[in-house]
Amino acid sequence: MEGRSAECRGAPAAAMIPQMSRRGKFITFEGLDGTGKSTQMRKLAAVVWDAGHRVIETREPGGTPTGEKIRKVLLDSSTAGLAPLAEMALMFAARAQHIAEVIEPALAAGSIVLCDRFTDSTEAYQGSGRRLGSEAVRELHRVLCGNLQPDLTILLDSNPGASVDRARRRNKRTAKGGARSHDENRFEQETRAFFARVHEGYLAIAAREKGRVVMVDARGTPAQTHQRIVEVVRKKLRV
Ligand code: TYD
Repeated sequence: MEGRSAECRGAPAAAMIPQMSRRGKFITFEGLDGTGKSTQMRKLAAVVWDAGHRVIETREPGGTPTGEKIRKVLLDSSTAGLAPLAEMALMFAARAQHIAEVIEPALAAGSIVLCDRFTDSTEAYQGSGRRLGSEAVRELHRVLCGNLQPDLTILLDSNPGASVDRARRRNKRTAKGGARSHDENRFEQETRAFFARVHEGYLAIAAREKGRVVMVDARGTPAQTHQRIVEVVRKKLRV
């Protein structure tokens, strides 16, 4: 999805399941850098589309032309000295635009929206990692995002050290001319202690939001993780 806004796959109207036309479903993917979220989201999109639903795949920060500009500022490692509160404000600015321009219209049209990261990322990274606290994040979410909650959040869990190492290796390859068109390393340069706090933040969200967040073990092969995700989605959303 590099450098692109939301991507839509259409399904023939006759194949749509009737209740989907009233309101779609909002599914978010969460986890530390390098847990394989993007791959898993793509694989799930194919399954959902094959089942006859209209699917939107999108991501944060980003998902709209304006949001992708904000993403560049946030992730570029040449962005120096960004204050934690400014970082959080930019995450929410991109999100408010994303909700207005992509997510709400797609849900209103009955689509299934798959989103790579959402407000749980802000709670884990800025709230916990940057120590801004959960309450500030949740309050901003109420004010700026109308408290929009996903129907289901897949939290990919794996060993924090191993996944961040994987993300760092991926971004190093990219710097030498891989798929990512520009440097997105700013967060991967954080310390192990930072990612340990982010991991703790995610565990706390999962413990609090038991009805919405399902933790999926991402330590096996991508195919095993995909199978687990499909089971969860079928069971929880009957998709
Ligand atoms: P992403 O492209 O999903 O990274 P990865 O593929 O490595 O998991 O997300 C970019 C980075 O932005 C990631 O390090 C997490 C961070 N982030 C926040 O800190 N707060 C947020 O609210 C969001 C959405 C992302």
